[in-house]
Amino acid sequence: MKHYQYSLPRTNLIFGEDTLKNLGIEVKKLGKRALLVTGTKSMERFGFLEKTVDSLKKEGLEIVHYSGVAPNPTVEIVNYGAEKALANGCDVVVALGGGSVMDTAKNIAIVAGHSEKEVVSIWEFSGPGGKTREITAKTLPIVAITSTSGTGSHVNRFAVVTNEKTREKTGIMSPFIYPRLSLTDLDILCSMPPSLTARTGFDVLSHVMECFVSKESNSLTGLHCLKAMQLVFNYLPQAYNEGNNIKTREAMALADILAGWALTTSRVILPHALSHAVSAFYPKAEHGLVLAALTPQIMRFNIDRGDEEVIEKHCEIAKMAGGRIISSTKKEAFKSVDAVERLLKKLKLNVTLQNLGVDEKDLEGMVESSFAAMKGPIEANPVSATRKEILHLFKRGME
Ligand SMILES: [Fe+2]
Repeated sequence: MKHYQYSLPRTNLIFGEDTLKNLGIEVKKLGKRALLVTGTKSMERFGFLEKTVDSLKKEGLEIVHYSGVAPNPTVEIVNYGAEKALANGCDVVVALGGGSVMDTAKNIAIVAGHSEKEVVSIWEFSGPGGKTREITAKTLPIVAITSTSGTGSHVNRFAVVTNEKTREKTGIMSPFIYPRLSLTDLDILCSMPPSLTARTGFDVLSHVMECFVSKESNSLTGLHCLKAMQLVFNYLPQAYNEGNNIKTREAMALADILAGWALTTSRVILPHALSHAVSAFYPKAEHGLVLAALTPQIMRFNIDRGDEEVIEKHCEIAKMAGGRIISSTKKEAFKSVDAVERLLKKLKLNVTLQNLGVDEKDLEGMVESSFAAMKGPIEANPVSATRKEILHLFKRGME
């Protein structure tokens, strides 16, 4: 039997409708002065920023606001936020937003916690290049209020960061960046526009399909992944069409949490490895859209070359999408790709890398970037892929 060892979440989870009002009471247990990290204006427009500030102030917390965090946050964005936290003596970091905002907050908590007078760059904690600083309990406590159902960042120990100079987007993993408090307020999720619901929802599906098929998958991963797949295939189109439907938002929020936990017991594979390289070259390309352009091609590649277990797992994916699988054969396994392509069509996510502005001349550089920053996920793919094959997969993603 396979031996495995995990670090389980150390997160206090709050989930339901109108839960934001309870924020201050819980944050007060973690610190006195909060760096509040937010992204675009939408949280302000819908009144959730005000509600967050009110709840924190009501409990006597001081707030330093760091706003405007962009998708695919860079080393500079993180280091600047950490400088702000240090200069103001913040002792807790609160994120209100999607994956980029939550990841930025996690990265800031690492840098601010491990820096004294001068900021130590987040890149020194990030892995590529082999000189990695250790992430310790000095990391500031993190509070994550998710505004999307997508990354699972509010319940996992990962954060990503992009280095624009080296053109690498990499993942940071540490048990110290499990948020101490994760808050899901379904009212916030109801404010998501359809296109954001679609791309973040597809990210959830990618996490669970990849973790399930990954070489690092095990029986516990399967439990989380299969349920989450079923929820996404059943509810994402409805959440996309009826944003105010609490039941569908709840289903997607649950799938997001299950996907976050799946990342604890397994690892993503080629779609994420390749999509990070695209983001490193094109930071404005939305993560969910890049995944949509790449995933069907990679699934075909894996089914085509995979062993019996890979075939069987893709048959399971097809079943979770409601497909009838008669026997575990390669032909049947391809039904999983059909199901994913049907879903992408319903969500208007049937895009190519070319549609996203990717230039053919960058493809070779993107292959190198994926090997430099995402070697782990490449190696976790159930079918080993050479540089030439990865280049071919990028090319297929362009078509
Ligand atoms: Fe993702």
